[in-house]
Amino acid sequence: MLDRTDVRIFWQSLRAWGPREAVIDFTHYYRAKRHERADRFDERFGTETSRMVGIGSLAGLGANGADAIHYWPTRECEFTATLDSLGELDHDSFTFVDLGCGKGRVVLLAAAHPFRRVVGVDFSPALVEVARENVIRYTGPVKAPVVRVEACDAAEWVVPDGDLVIYMFNPFGPQVMTRVLANLNDAVRAQPRRLYLLYYSPEYPELVEEAGFRLLAEGSGENWGWAVYSCQ
Ligand SMILES: C[S@@+](CC[C@H](N)C(=O)[O-])C[C@H]1O[C@@H](n2cnc3c(N)ncnc32)[C@H](O)[C@@H]1O
Repeated sequence: MLDRTDVRIFWQSLRAWGPREAVIDFTHYYRAKRHERADRFDERFGTETSRMVGIGSLAGLGANGADAIHYWPTRECEFTATLDSLGELDHDSFTFVDLGCGKGRVVLLAAAHPFRRVVGVDFSPALVEVARENVIRYTGPVKAPVVRVEACDAAEWVVPDGDLVIYMFNPFGPQVMTRVLANLNDAVRAQPRRLYLLYYSPEYPELVEEAGFRLLAEGSGENWGWAVYSCQ
């Protein structure tokens, strides 16, 4: 049975991408919603990450709101599989960043690993507030010593020093994606280091490859696939 959020999400996709893409997008969305019922992430960890939020219902996004994908969370098992495809990692050398973190589900899951820092970045003030609340309420395991959520447009975000694992769940369209990839590239040129990009539901792999990232691994889950790149 469809609810009001479902209908709103469908109309937003239809307006943004046309009928064919809207049907594909909605099919994924609805499957993800079904999986949420089975996974019960929020029930297990005392958070609120599951409810989808249409981009059209968020205020204060600025010009890049037009290039944004609505909020819904990564499925826990698919995040684990994506991160695992990096293989052995000396977590404490890396800062983990979820660009377009929404309500912070992936921030919480990454914090279970002993990363040097775990950072979420989202341009919606409302979603950032929910994510910060989730970091406080989360009852799952936390090994990262620093976990924080920043309110910032990914296109304007300043890349931090040191080794990085960057996660993106298809957060934005080609305009923002191109700027983000250029910023990541510039940061690696300015300070050579290890930078891995975990791209879940990789809608624009050609942009990543054109930007000179090297494909290391690919995988597929029940919801979406993923691709893992390094930036050299
Ligand atoms: C599909 S959701 C992914 C949520 C989270 N990363 C996860 O996997 O659970 C995409 C998120 O990207 C955010 N987003 C879209 N464009 C953005 C931008 N230009 N800067 C920062 N966040 C953005 C949206 O607000 C939304 O929360």
